[in-house]
Amino acid sequence: MKKYHIITYGCQMNEHDSENIAGLLEAMDYEYEDDPYKSDVVVINTCSVRENADKRFFGVLGQFKRIRKTNPDFVLCVCGCMPQQPRIVEKINRQFSWVDIVFGTQNIAKFPELLEKRLRTGQKQRQIIDSNPVIDEDEMKPKRMYRHKALVNITYGCNNFCTYCIVPYTRGREKSRMLCDVVREIEGLAADGVKEVMLLGQNVDSYRDAAGSDFADLLHAVNDIEGIERIRFMTSHPKDISDRMIACFTDCGKLCRNIHLPLQSGSDRVLKRMNRHYDMQRYLEIVDKLRATAPDITISTDIIVGFPGETEEDFEQTLDAARRVRYDSAFTFIYSPREGTPAAKLFDDMIPDDVCHERFDRLVDVMNSISLEKNLEYKGRVCEVMVEGRSKNEPDAYSGRTDGFKLVNFTSDRPEEDMIGKTVKVLITESKTFSLEGREVAE
Ligand code: SAH
Ligand code: SF4
Ligand code: F3S
Repeated sequence: MKKYHIITYGCQMNEHDSENIAGLLEAMDYEYEDDPYKSDVVVINTCSVRENADKRFFGVLGQFKRIRKTNPDFVLCVCGCMPQQPRIVEKINRQFSWVDIVFGTQNIAKFPELLEKRLRTGQKQRQIIDSNPVIDEDEMKPKRMYRHKALVNITYGCNNFCTYCIVPYTRGREKSRMLCDVVREIEGLAADGVKEVMLLGQNVDSYRDAAGSDFADLLHAVNDIEGIERIRFMTSHPKDISDRMIACFTDCGKLCRNIHLPLQSGSDRVLKRMNRHYDMQRYLEIVDKLRATAPDITISTDIIVGFPGETEEDFEQTLDAARRVRYDSAFTFIYSPREGTPAAKLFDDMIPDDVCHERFDRLVDVMNSISLEKNLEYKGRVCEVMVEGRSKNEPDAYSGRTDGFKLVNFTSDRPEEDMIGKTVKVLITESKTFSLEGREVAE
């Protein structure tokens, strides 16, 4: 049997695309191989959100030149967000001639045809931007990474054009799947034993299908699916969150009490330049409403430091916002100019690297100390944990997630086959910045 390997960078959209690509390859009788250098087909599913992603990708491409020499039948494929940009495709064609197939985020369904053509003719295949994207999810049979939880796309693309962000250019215009199609997919997953679904969209709050159903309608419909125990979603956009959606945290019993609510900056001036369409007053109102609706809700966020023109005062407003919201966790990034985005064109008041790093370190310190304080509140409590598998660092322990998405490493006497996908009670005995520790207790 021929073998394949997939390298995935980037967000959960890419992870799910890779599951679909794996499904397509298995339908062509390919078998998964752990070692890319022993594979017949390698697919690199790329991300372009920050510059270091670009650098890493070209480094990896370089490493594959060698195999091409030793195995002439080897097929190297590049897909994902990077080749959605013409300058990247040009660079691949110019400098990395050993890449056999390049395809874009909207052409995944065409991959088997491209591979077949490459194998038959020996010619390179390029299938990038499709002006009329087709959503082919319903025909896909993804090879899912986990048995008990699944990623489910509800929208594709993004219309928000935050000035720093490449995603609207790499993923195209926003499109919502029909509610009935999403429900049908999740019913199928539940029948397969899936307990938890993660609904995916760049901005789930702007979900609206052709029949007029919105995100709150979708949450209610998914909540009614038998067999599903937990519902998560990402990502929320503060400008589009509705009160009906917030009410779902009490109305929909399966909806996890957790939200990822990107702040990006705590300064209204910077938020405006980022084209985020909310100010701090609106953001904090949402946080207050969420906590009034679900007092135990956990909140995480994304923050960018060093956006062009960010002053010390702007940055201090971000620190204030972090202290005011008291996030459970945060992803913090240094602004990275992306060619083709408005920010890279419009703003030339770049913040020097040393200032960016100094602000980044200060922000991380504040965020980490809040995360630890929040996690300490769990010590001595019993939490319901859905078990994901063995703990990465301690093979004798298990790891799983609370409803609020806290990572818990814990001990139990039960064998693995009794554990994965199950929800168990864990007494929390230790709190760290990024995880909790404990032991399973009787039902
Ligand atoms: N659709 C989601 C996620 C987008 S990408 C959202 O709107 O939140 C994930 C995060 O990467 C963003 O939230 C942002 O914080 C960060 N990011 C995006 N572009 C960036 C850039 N050019 N430089 C630094 N961070 C960036
Ligand atoms: Fe990028 Fe903004 Fe769209 Fe998120 S909402 S993907 S940050 S443009
Ligand atoms: Fe990266 Fe594309 Fe996701 S740029 S963050 S893989 S949508």
